[in-house]
Amino acid sequence: MTIQKSAFGTTPDGVETSLYTLQNRHGLRVKITNYGAIVTSILTPDVQGKPGDVVLGFERLADYIPNGPYLGAVVGRYGNRIAHGRFTLDGQEYRLATNNGPNHLHGGNEGFNTKVWQAEELPEENALKLSYRSPDGEEGYPGNLEVTVVYALTDDNGLEIDYTATTDKATPVNLTNHSYFNLSAGKADSIRDHVIQLNATRYVPVDDSSIPTGELADVAGTVMDLRQPQRIGQNLDQVPGGYDHTYVLGQQPGQMARAAEVYEPLSGRVLEVFTTQPGVQFYTGNFLDGSLTGKHGHTYTKHYGFCLETQHFPDSPNQPNFPSTILRPGQTYRQRTIYRFSTRAPQHEA
Ligand code: GLA
Repeated sequence: MTIQKSAFGTTPDGVETSLYTLQNRHGLRVKITNYGAIVTSILTPDVQGKPGDVVLGFERLADYIPNGPYLGAVVGRYGNRIAHGRFTLDGQEYRLATNNGPNHLHGGNEGFNTKVWQAEELPEENALKLSYRSPDGEEGYPGNLEVTVVYALTDDNGLEIDYTATTDKATPVNLTNHSYFNLSAGKADSIRDHVIQLNATRYVPVDDSSIPTGELADVAGTVMDLRQPQRIGQNLDQVPGGYDHTYVLGQQPGQMARAAEVYEPLSGRVLEVFTTQPGVQFYTGNFLDGSLTGKHGHTYTKHYGFCLETQHFPDSPNQPNFPSTILRPGQTYRQRTIYRFSTRAPQHEA
């Protein structure tokens, strides 16, 4: 399929950016900019075949600078939090920006979400390859890191995201995509009535500043249990602050897990999430506060969208019992996540 390219705007530093439109033969159409590797739009058919845009975002580059909630962006070098912006690796202490209370969040003051990536169109694979070289010492991280993110559309309406990275010094790496979904495409301004099912028996409990306690807790008998389909709103108000937690997927390293499924009853849309990552951060847009108005004139109030950010666990560089996030010279970091869209006819209530 041909990929369309258009101008998306110029950064304050004078760098031109582009917007790439990928589409397949089954009604999936995705727009991606090489600024922050941001997915700006995902058009998918509803149960009647009518297309609608299911992600939060903006029409213009200027609105993404800054992008406080990380709408649609790839976050890195380390997605999620590192306690006090500090970690020790091979006997050396590193200090990172503390841009989220006492902690480091999503790569620091100028994370990968603020970088202009090199873009290469791969029309044969219906894909866009974005590359970024993060220099040694950027935001305090060790080593030159070469990162690529390939976004590809599959025939079964998947948006497949392949991440790779290599380094010349040992460094933590944790890459994710921070898209916010509202599958109603404008019919509902809250995700409370979306129905979620998350295949995780454990989650990562956190302290007041969202740093893991180190424990992996059983969801059974708690409001964190999303194993059976339930309205996101069912227990949302019982979760202090709203859902903003990493769930443990428990698959073998490198294997794809079917992490989650979300169904939206007004449109009949279904989102399934598959990933090789060990965790998924379920975040219910708790910090959206109505100060941003996005595409189609929609104002992003609290719980307007949800994220399913596939990733390693927060603060892994300081948590010896969590799967390692350290990439060493000679190794290749590889992760794959697929967001797959489909529809389902509404169930008639008895
Ligand atoms: C992640 C974090 C949240 C919040 C958002 C961005 O999902 O876990 O706490 O920082 O990013 O607003």
